[in-house]
Amino acid sequence: MADAILPILTIESTCDETAAAVISDEGAVMGQCIATQESLHEQFRGVVPEVAARAHLERILPVIDTAIRQANVSPDDLTAIAVADRPGLAGSLLVGVVAAKTLAIAWQKPLVSLNHLHAHLYACQLSSESSVYPCVGLIVSGGHTSLYYCTSPLDLEYLGGTIDDAAGEAFDKVGAMLSLGFPGGPEVSKLAAKGKRDAYAFPRSMIHEKHFDFSFSGLKTAVRYAITGPGQQDFAKLEIDDQVKADVCASFETAVVDVLVRKSRRALKQYKCKQLIIGGGVAANGYLRQQFAAAATQDHFALTIAPPDLCTDNAVMGAIALEKIRRGDFASFDIDITPGLQRGF
Ligand code: KG4
Ligand code: ZN
Repeated sequence: MADAILPILTIESTCDETAAAVISDEGAVMGQCIATQESLHEQFRGVVPEVAARAHLERILPVIDTAIRQANVSPDDLTAIAVADRPGLAGSLLVGVVAAKTLAIAWQKPLVSLNHLHAHLYACQLSSESSVYPCVGLIVSGGHTSLYYCTSPLDLEYLGGTIDDAAGEAFDKVGAMLSLGFPGGPEVSKLAAKGKRDAYAFPRSMIHEKHFDFSFSGLKTAVRYAITGPGQQDFAKLEIDDQVKADVCASFETAVVDVLVRKSRRALKQYKCKQLIIGGGVAANGYLRQQFAAAATQDHFALTIAPPDLCTDNAVMGAIALEKIRRGDFASFDIDITPGLQRGF
């Protein structure tokens, strides 16, 4: 096989998961390891960047070592080392990028730089037998809520995104207000299943606007007022009835998903597109998956949502590196991190 691409090593450390995978030239996962940091951030009910960076530093080499051993390959067998260098938390990104560069120099392998958001969407292609392109791509994660028009895994046009909180961030903050576990998304989702979806008339911000931007901070504030009433702020002292909690979660989840579905449908129509792909942590949400499936049946579009285990951060979606390698798109050793704090990323 003259053009065969041997296994690659992929590294992910953009937020609070330290992950590595070894992936064959055909995209098969030969080994992978994820070290989550949930227990470290739980007491703060949010990811603390400096804590995350330090934890990455301790874990990155054992995680890489585990993935390589599981794949039963030696560093010599690797064709390239790929690392997500954008967007994410600066300290977290640095650990992955420095590890990738160091190993690439030591093992004399080429380096590939990855956009973490593009990788989230590529998780959809990994679960599909045929090409999902061209498509509208929706990313719903802890840090991003964005719509793209994608003509290939690497050619994406930004259509719009949140102007304040990301959908996952809003889930996490509502979870914190209700004193649920961390991260809040899965906990809110569990309670929502027992609540009334129309118990509270929470806002659907910018749902009728023609652009593809989102806003979830007003919704978060509306939930806060529903729980505390005006003027009171000490959530720790609140005693909220279980059914009220479930109703708040159900009404909140429904408001988020309504906006996501409406805007995605409009993007599909405007771009005359028949395929929608959805990636990112919030795409694991059961109600979201259900509502998008119903919309797909109604509007006759094909829907590919990343498999639940590839929705939250992982290194397997780093298989997008194979697409870059096919294009001969390697990174130089002086790449730097791009936290990507600006909108439109
Ligand atoms: O993609 P991800 O792992 O990290 C980022 O790149 O941000 O997404 C994490 C986010 C968190 O906000 C988490 O609460 C949310 O995804 N999440 C969920 C669910 N599972 C994870 N949100 C709602 N429902 C879920 N089932
Ligand atoms: Zn992510």
